Amino acid sequence: MDLQALLDDLAAEAAPFAAQGKVADYIPALAAVDPARFGIALATVDGQLFGSGDWRAPFSIQSVSKAFSLALVLAGDGETLWKRVGREPSGNPFNSLVQLEYEKGIPRNPFINAGALILIDRLLSQTGDSLGTLRAFLRAESGNPAVDLDPEVAASEAAHGHRNAALAHFMASCGNLENPVERVLDHYVRQCALTMSCADLAKAGLFLANHGLRADGSRLLTRSEAKRINAIMLTCGTYDAAGDFAYRVGLPGKSGVGGGILAVLPERGVLCAWSPALDLHGNSVAGVEALDRFTTRTGWSVF
Ligand code: DON
Repeated sequence: MDLQALLDDLAAEAAPFAAQGKVADYIPALAAVDPARFGIALATVDGQLFGSGDWRAPFSIQSVSKAFSLALVLAGDGETLWKRVGREPSGNPFNSLVQLEYEKGIPRNPFINAGALILIDRLLSQTGDSLGTLRAFLRAESGNPAVDLDPEVAASEAAHGHRNAALAHFMASCGNLENPVERVLDHYVRQCALTMSCADLAKAGLFLANHGLRADGSRLLTRSEAKRINAIMLTCGTYDAAGDFAYRVGLPGKSGVGGGILAVLPERGVLCAWSPALDLHGNSVAGVEALDRFTTRTGWSVF
């Protein structure tokens, strides 16, 4: 299969889909990004890297970061994490408040915002520096020592982060935060503001396609933990559109409101698509379409 030609086709076909979405503007700094941009990269477990379009352009990874925080927390904590966060799809928007109160401050899953705040809280307790630990990991796995956050995006989100503050304070009131709310929120907005390219993210995610083995051959996760993260990505990684994403793409995936989507092809590699214009659920319209076309044309889905 000519994978480069396939990615070039997907990039050439993206424009009408990008035009159907809308760039996230609830974080004002994200609203400035050109909605027409599109990139796609594929990193394979045997060390090849393919890409097309804006695949080397850095973008705000936002909630794609949560797949990596989950991996780091599970690597440190194992199963004890699940006392503080569930692993069921929420069926609600990623920043919804309502379910958290019904469920007594235990977020439905680690990928909605409340659940991601729990991951950061745990990583802070484990390491003293959640953002620093994650950034070092992403630099090592992507092979890009320049991976860093965009302070303007972090400040913009911090200034408009009332919902996340509400989620964090509610969890603290239920006794489900170990660190001060302000500290957790600070690491959260800076983590979401990390900028990486499709190429960086595809390479960084390879441990998920490789049964938990890192780029240097060391083990981050057991085979079973890597399987479980992929399962949670499939069922919860694209929020209240996770069913539709599984139906269309058929791969574990994790999206972010910067327009990035990471998708895992077990034992083959990792795809990352980026296009900033989003659907109503916060997933990239052209990104989902390209991943749908990729798995349809290659037959490489988990189903
Ligand atoms: O907390 C927020 O709303 C953003 N920093 C991240 C949201 C996000 O990417 C969720 N995604 N689809």
